[in-house]
Amino acid sequence: MTAIITIANQKGGVGKTTTAINLAAALANRDKKTLLIDLDPQANSTIAFYDSGEISNSMFEVLSDSRVGLATVIKPSKDPLLFLAPGRLALAKLEQQLAGQFDAPFRLKDALAPVEKDYDYVVVDTPPSLGILTVNSLVAGTHLLVPIQAAYFAIEGTDDLLETYERIRARPNPGLKVLGVVITLYDKRTNISKDTHGQIRSVFGEVLFKTKITKNVRLEESPAYKETIFTFAPKSPGAVEYKKLAAEVIQRVEEDRVARHAEDAA
Ligand SMILES: Nc1ncnc2c1ncn2[C@@H]1O[C@H](COP(=O)(O)OP(=O)(O)O)[C@@H](O)[C@H]1O
Ligand SMILES: [Mg+2]
Repeated sequence: MTAIITIANQKGGVGKTTTAINLAAALANRDKKTLLIDLDPQANSTIAFYDSGEISNSMFEVLSDSRVGLATVIKPSKDPLLFLAPGRLALAKLEQQLAGQFDAPFRLKDALAPVEKDYDYVVVDTPPSLGILTVNSLVAGTHLLVPIQAAYFAIEGTDDLLETYERIRARPNPGLKVLGVVITLYDKRTNISKDTHGQIRSVFGEVLFKTKITKNVRLEESPAYKETIFTFAPKSPGAVEYKKLAAEVIQRVEEDRVARHAEDAA
């Protein structure tokens, strides 16, 4: 079974895209064939691999026109095990375009159905909202991964995300699980980071990943060079941390697989 991991938090600038790109790359480095899907109209994940001029069909066409198969928009990356389903600005139009369509929340799930078996992992980057694109990613996903910035008020707003998660679990996607919460942009020199870490840990407990992603300029620079952290600065803290996060992700996904199997057998 393919693990489809949605990276979501309706706050912007919390490290969703940085996590999507570098977690996907780290999974590929661990021999997992991985598809990164960019559902954000800002297309920051896409631009980290390709210039916008190099993108013709994108997730916009896939989600708006059932005749455009997901397989036809997938592009390779420099890493032979990492693939990209690009996004572009037009995705912003879907909010209106899909309004009132009975299958609006299921477009990504349907598009993935014939493709997902070709990958071990699918990682979905989402926009900073709980609109139809994020809902599509939660309906299609097997797991939710929430990056939370180590900053004051970081937890505010996760209530809305978790409420949406519970609604989606209640009806269209009971199989969806929270894979974990990861602290991003952590700065061990500041009290803000330490305080919020304690707060996040007390709210999320075991769900919190052990790995924290610290603030590191290399992570900010690498997309401008169309590289992931692993080729741009392989020894940097960001590379080490995203590698550790990927190891935790794989472990949790595999434990979950065993648990689901046992449930099915019972
Ligand atoms: N660990 C980090 N260290 C330094 N800069 C980071 C880190 N994570 C993200 N950034 C930078 O912070 C900004 C917001 O991150 P991004 O991943 O785009 O967040 P989101 O997708 O949630 O909006 C970007 O400029 C990104 O390069
Ligand atoms: Mg983003």
